[in-house]
Amino acid sequence: MKQVEVAVIGTGWCGGIRAETLSRSALVDKLHICEIRPDRLAEVKALTNAATATLDYQDIIKNPNISVVYISTTPEPTHFPIARDCLKAGKNVLLEKPIALEFWEADELITLARRNGVKFTIGYSQRFNTKIAYAKKKIVDGTLGKVVSVMVSRHLSRSLGKKIANRTKLSPAAMESTHDLDFVFWMLEPAKPVRVYSQGAYGVMKPLNGSYDCMWNTVTMDDGSVVVVGGGWNLPPSYPNYSTTWIEITGTEGALTLDGTYRDNWLNTVEGGTRYPMSTMPGEQVDHVFAGQMGPETIHFLECCMLDRPVMVEPVHARMVMEAYTAADLSAERNEPVSLPLDNEALARIAEWNRR
Ligand SMILES: NC(=O)c1ccc[n+]([C@@H]2O[C@H](COP(=O)([O-])OP(=O)(O)OC[C@H]3O[C@@H](n4cnc5c(N)ncnc54)[C@H](O)[C@@H]3O)[C@@H](O)[C@H]2O)c1
Repeated sequence: MKQVEVAVIGTGWCGGIRAETLSRSALVDKLHICEIRPDRLAEVKALTNAATATLDYQDIIKNPNISVVYISTTPEPTHFPIARDCLKAGKNVLLEKPIALEFWEADELITLARRNGVKFTIGYSQRFNTKIAYAKKKIVDGTLGKVVSVMVSRHLSRSLGKKIANRTKLSPAAMESTHDLDFVFWMLEPAKPVRVYSQGAYGVMKPLNGSYDCMWNTVTMDDGSVVVVGGGWNLPPSYPNYSTTWIEITGTEGALTLDGTYRDNWLNTVEGGTRYPMSTMPGEQVDHVFAGQMGPETIHFLECCMLDRPVMVEPVHARMVMEAYTAADLSAERNEPVSLPLDNEALARIAEWNRR
């Protein structure tokens, strides 16, 4: 059987999931892992029986036998240099979102991947959520008619909000609703976003990094449909990294409501109180089965590389999503709608932010 050597760089929460998934796959000849925290490196090495474990990602770059690399590092400014070096070395790359922090970085990664003829994708795992896949199918096969509106409401527990908000100034639109903007734009293809109006509200997160607790983004598409995506990260402590979603899609011929609140799995213990297991955004390994999206997403990318199939998330799409959430941040700051694609004046303002 054909097998490949793969690597995971950054084996924290998500990278740990990816490494464990890969370690279970018959498609993987050898798994290599890289992590700058020696204790976590040792833990994941023991869990996955990795062939090699290193503190320096250059060891992955230098190993010509490794053809597929998953980059799951934080803080987010590490994404660009590590992805750039991997793509330059001719590796196929799955990079966790965000694709980059600046547009020129995203453009450089896209160009490098094209030039080197390698696969490059972004980890928008929600595309592998079976409910989201079903919604896409029902839109594409015409069951709902012409889509008129899409509403996504997502809230995370504040422990996750704090983890994300502590390491970067990125907003809930950029760090959380990014997943929802990605899959809604994908569902509505070939329609494109043309205008974003966003409002944010402060709560518990402001003292941590000045960020909103919640942002609600209204996006107008060029076919006239309207998208409303709300994302927040201030729910009280709950199941570790609890995420709850409610989705409503209306069309001229039908409507689809998707309940992603996970209230159908209710664990109640004396020690932990009410918990909703398997509710995190990536999902989790449950003994022999993966409950959620990151496991299937990890294997899907490996199969794309081995069978030369198209990737699920085109990096140019991730760049469009990046433009939409950046417009949302600008809109919330200015208290007025922002047009897409971003014009020179908006780009200048964003460049100013990035210099701060
Ligand atoms: N798809 C999803 O559902 C989903 C969910 C959560 C997070 N994410 C994304 O995944 C990424 C990882 O998030 P996380 O929650 O797993 O973060 P994490 O902080 O738990 O793990 C990141 C790991 O990267 C390591 N690291 C940092 N620099 C490194 C380097 N140069 N070389 C090797 N290792 C390095 C850190 O030590 C840490 O262990 C983030 O960018 C986040 O946006 C995606």
